Amino acid sequence: MEGRMRVRATIFILCSIFLPLASNARHPLASGFRHRHRHGRVARHGFGGVTQLKDLRVGFYGNTCPQAEQIVNEVVTKAYKKDPGVSAGFLRLFFHDCFVHGCDASILLDKTASGEKVEKDSRANGQGMRGLELIDEAKARIEAECPGIVSCADVLSYATREGSVMAGVPHYDVAAGRRDGLISRETDVAGNIPLPSQPLQNISQLFISKGMTVEDMVVLIGSHSIGIAHCPTFLYRVAQYNPTVKVDPKLTTADANNIRNTCLRPVPFEDLSQTFMPFDPVTPFRMDNIFYKNLLEGKALIESDRLMADDITTKQTVQAMAGNEQNWLAKFADAMVRLGMVDVKTGTEGEIRRNCRFVNSVNPQQPGDNNGDSGIGFDKEDEEQFRQIIGSTIFVH
Ligand code: HEM
Repeated sequence: MEGRMRVRATIFILCSIFLPLASNARHPLASGFRHRHRHGRVARHGFGGVTQLKDLRVGFYGNTCPQAEQIVNEVVTKAYKKDPGVSAGFLRLFFHDCFVHGCDASILLDKTASGEKVEKDSRANGQGMRGLELIDEAKARIEAECPGIVSCADVLSYATREGSVMAGVPHYDVAAGRRDGLISRETDVAGNIPLPSQPLQNISQLFISKGMTVEDMVVLIGSHSIGIAHCPTFLYRVAQYNPTVKVDPKLTTADANNIRNTCLRPVPFEDLSQTFMPFDPVTPFRMDNIFYKNLLEGKALIESDRLMADDITTKQTVQAMAGNEQNWLAKFADAMVRLGMVDVKTGTEGEIRRNCRFVNSVNPQQPGDNNGDSGIGFDKEDEEQFRQIIGSTIFVH
């Protein structure tokens, strides 16, 4: 494989295992409709042509564990004071959970009954997952007060809402009643999580295949108003954009220099995970529409974000979000509610996990059971990829 695709494949690995998204795609009009019942019940009807009714309810734990949301709030508030980056961590975790097997906390699993590699082992997740230990903390406190009642999927939903609100999103009600999944496979991540070098049309199709709209996608991408991206996800834009062009012509000179200065510097191997840049350097912890304004000026760290400002199917929404922050934030909260309904398990499906890292049939006490929380980390393979891109003398050991 030559040129740009080869470079990207070495960076992301996952490029080589794209699944054809188009075959999964459904037309948005065929994806049924959703509405909110009075009394807080959220239902989804006729999804994907298959009649399903998935009931989630605001106040689901009102009788069985009324303190659940408060506990999550306390854990997130404490963590946010130390590190406001937790908001971004939860948002990404939640998105990556919901798009692979639905919002069922499958991303939190360290081990399942099958013993297969789990979602968090995927390089699309492992490199930058933040907030896992806070979910553990909240879940442990909830289990101590009401054992076996509150799912990990709902804890993650609550935590994501809390973190988002702290970052500036208006409060939104989280309908609960999700059950935890039993399956988590590394191999299911590719094709379900969008990649920054992917054509925008494929990313749009992915959202549609999950019952969401292209507008939802543009509205939710505003999450990139906070948080960080690691150098391997965007370095190709200044190293070898394609076989003939070294630097992505859409990058401003200042941004290209910025990327070079941050990423192309000697870094001890142990610190490789520290090579990252904020999506929004001006207000990196604040959910605001500066992100969209930057997009319209051609400023974007990752390529797929930039494409949204140029593409005819998304440009108008980007402009609208850039023009009215309150409107965007209101839409964002609404889109988060819809994201939280993607392929949820309810009723008797799945289980209520005791420990978010293990399905209940797996004994978490056994030594060696924890097959690793990938967290932020880089290995020799990453180093090799960096070397291929930027030469062999960059890293100081
Ligand atoms: C539409 C396609 C999307 C693509 C291609 C994409 C890609 C990425 C990439 C490459 C990163 C950097 C990861 C790293 O290097 O550590 C990232 C981070 C992030 N993404 Fe997305 N993303 C997309 C959509 C979303 C959506 C829908 C959400 C939320 C609902 C979201 C929330 C975030 C957040 C908050 C971060 C920062 C995480 C942190 O700071 O720990 N992304 N995304």
